[in-house]
Amino acid sequence: MSLEALFQKLYDSPLAAAIRENTSYFPWIESLHVLAITLVFGTICIVDLRLLGYRAHRRGARRLIVDLLPFTWAAFAVAIVTGALLFTSNAVAYAHNAQFQWKMIAILAAGLNMAVFHLTAYRRIGDWDDAHRPPLAARLSGAFSLLLWIAVIVFGRLIGFTLSVF
Ligand code: HEM
Repeated sequence: MSLEALFQKLYDSPLAAAIRENTSYFPWIESLHVLAITLVFGTICIVDLRLLGYRAHRRGARRLIVDLLPFTWAAFAVAIVTGALLFTSNAVAYAHNAQFQWKMIAILAAGLNMAVFHLTAYRRIGDWDDAHRPPLAARLSGAFSLLLWIAVIVFGRLIGFTLSVF
């Protein structure tokens, strides 16, 4: 099955029709989506500012990451589920929307940046855990993460303004 046929199948599904045709389903799902992404971005911001050496110095970087990551992942799971439901409701139009495509690329890049951090600077965190100025690799990860998640949110916001009816 081609991607086009898959998106059309999603659009034709009873679930998609229910979200499209019920006046309150989409706004409620999008509100949950926005709530989830505020928690994703909020917890990531706190860690990234610590990696950049700006805030939360009373706590070691490792303690902060260990304490906040479960909230980030739980909120990310809710963002994925609600995002997928929103996507399903108008799959063909969203799949062709450049802001939606850039948002997905930015989410993948943010994930890659996080993986590189955990496989490099985080492995040596014992050396710099309480340092006011973390090593360059950690600061770069923090900076890229902040920029990429801001890009995800901006592209996410622009989707609704740029969606063309297919
Ligand atoms: C944690 C990751 C995510 C973030 C930070 C994020 C961010 C956003 C933002 C800021 C909006 C605009 C909300 C508004 O205008 O009220 C949005 C809307 C949307 N997001 Fe996400 N999103 C994420 C994940 C996803 C995923 C994984 C999908 C799809 C699989 C998705 C699909 C959508 C759709 C379809 C909309 C609605 C656009 C519209 O018509 O207004 N999102 N997202």
